[in-house]
Amino acid sequence: MNLRVFESEQDAAVACAARVREAVTSHPSLVLGLPTGRTPLNVYRELVALHERKAVDWSRARTFNLDELLGVSAEDGGSFRAYMDRHFFQRVNLSEELIHFLDGAAPDAEAECARYEAELAAEGGLGLVLLGIGANGHLAFNEPAEQLQARCHRTRLSRETREANAMLFGDDPSRVPLEALTLGMGALIQSRRAMLLAFGEGKAEAVKAMVEGPVTPRCPASFLQLHRDVEVWLDRASASAL
Ligand code: GLP
Repeated sequence: MNLRVFESEQDAAVACAARVREAVTSHPSLVLGLPTGRTPLNVYRELVALHERKAVDWSRARTFNLDELLGVSAEDGGSFRAYMDRHFFQRVNLSEELIHFLDGAAPDAEAECARYEAELAAEGGLGLVLLGIGANGHLAFNEPAEQLQARCHRTRLSRETREANAMLFGDDPSRVPLEALTLGMGALIQSRRAMLLAFGEGKAEAVKAMVEGPVTPRCPASFLQLHRDVEVWLDRASASAL
C-alpha cells in the first residue's frame, strides 16, 4: 500500500483531484468508481473547480457509484444519487447515459444487483475507484462480518453506519434505511487502481487496521492489502495511529 500523508484534508483533496484529472485526461473513457459520504466532498469540489477552469473533460468518462440505500429512489433528496447530482454530476459535463447507479427503489433488489454487476462487467470493471472507509473498516457497504461477498448484493447496515449516514436524513439516524445495495469486494479488489481517502481522528483506528492489521473480514478495508495498485490518502489525524 502506498501511503500519502498530507498536512490537511484540503491539501489531500487538491492533490487527489489533480490525480483524478490526470487519469481522466490520459484515458477519457475511464471507468470510475465513486463514493458518497463526507470524506470525498472536498475532492468533488476540487474536481468541479478544475472543470470550471476547463482543465478536464468528463464527456466520455463512465461512472459507477459504489452503493445506494434500499427503498430510496433517485428522486429522494436523501438518496446517494441525489447527493452525487448535487455535488458532482450536475456540475460537470458527464454524459447522463454514462452514469451508472444502483436503483434503491427497484422492485427486485437481487435482480437490480445482477443488472449492475453485468453492466460493470460489460465496461470491463473499474479502472479507478475512489473509496472512503467506515470507522468500522467498511468499504462501500461491505460491513465487517464473518464472511464478505464478492458480488453486488443487498446488505444490512450496522447502527454505526446508519449514524454515519444520518446527514442525508436531517441528522436523524432512525430515518436512514436499514438496508442498502452495494458493490461487493470483488469489484473493488479487481479495480485497476484504487485511491482510498480517510480524514480525521475518527478514522485513525480503521486506517491502522486496514494498513497494519491482518487481512480479515472483520475489517473489509484490510483486503486492500491484496490490491495491486492502491494509494491511501490521509491527513495527519487519520494517520496518527500508524
Ligand atoms: C458510507 C459509505 C462509504 C463511505 C463511508 C464513510 O456509509 N457507504 O462508501 O466511504 O461510509 O463515510 P464518511 O466519508 O461520511 O465518513
